[in-house]
Amino acid sequence: MGRKFVVGGNWKMNGSKAQINDILAFLKSGPLNQDTEVVVGVPAVYLDYVKTNAPANVEVAAQNCYKAEKGAFTGETSPAMLKDLGVNWVILGHSERRQIFGESDELIAEKVAFALSNGLKVIACIGETLQEREAGQTEAVVFRQTQAIADKIQDWSNVVIAYEPVWAIGTGKTASPQQAQDVHKALRDWFSKNISAEVANAIRIQYGGSVTGANCKELGSQPDIDGFLVGGASLKPEFVNIVNARQ
Ligand code: 13P
Repeated sequence: MGRKFVVGGNWKMNGSKAQINDILAFLKSGPLNQDTEVVVGVPAVYLDYVKTNAPANVEVAAQNCYKAEKGAFTGETSPAMLKDLGVNWVILGHSERRQIFGESDELIAEKVAFALSNGLKVIACIGETLQEREAGQTEAVVFRQTQAIADKIQDWSNVVIAYEPVWAIGTGKTASPQQAQDVHKALRDWFSKNISAEVANAIRIQYGGSVTGANCKELGSQPDIDGFLVGGASLKPEFVNIVNARQ
């Protein structure tokens, strides 16, 4: 395999300076497995603060960015601005962006392409709703979301895929290790068939959705799960245990 385990914390719209200081304290004391890449997804207003104060072994991601360098896009953040702060990662296509803010597959793919062309690394989120899963459409949905990105990019080396079934996000209902593994394997096969065997073998696929200190080890032992994207538990000290799931 040889894929480096990568664990992201998606803080979503949570945190204050005081709470962030607490999070930075447990990240600093860790200890964090050196073989695992750690990235925290920070609200835009706190990016500079976290980038300045985070330990060197923790990378920082924005939770969104736009597909233009600058201009009349009120409220948006450009990849160039992120780079200016030393922020090298961005999370794109989260289901909350898709569902609450109406972001389409195509817009997300354009954002992924633009972020990559500006030198950012991207965590690209995909995943089916409960209704889609119950209708037997899980693979069709995640393949469609991935194909939209494939239509706009050639180089996948700076992309991490986060498979996050929408029904598992913030619900306490985790996908079983087998359910997650099945989708991750199907995605890897999709990459092999539609992109290349090399990309299929190299691309890292995170699982996200109610990951906790208690369930991370079993999930992380699946052969096609290469890390996690963690919401609620990334705000708590148990995040350290999740980072160390593969130890
Ligand atoms: P929870 O871990 O809170 O379910 O959130 C998952 C998620 O959406 C990470 O991006």
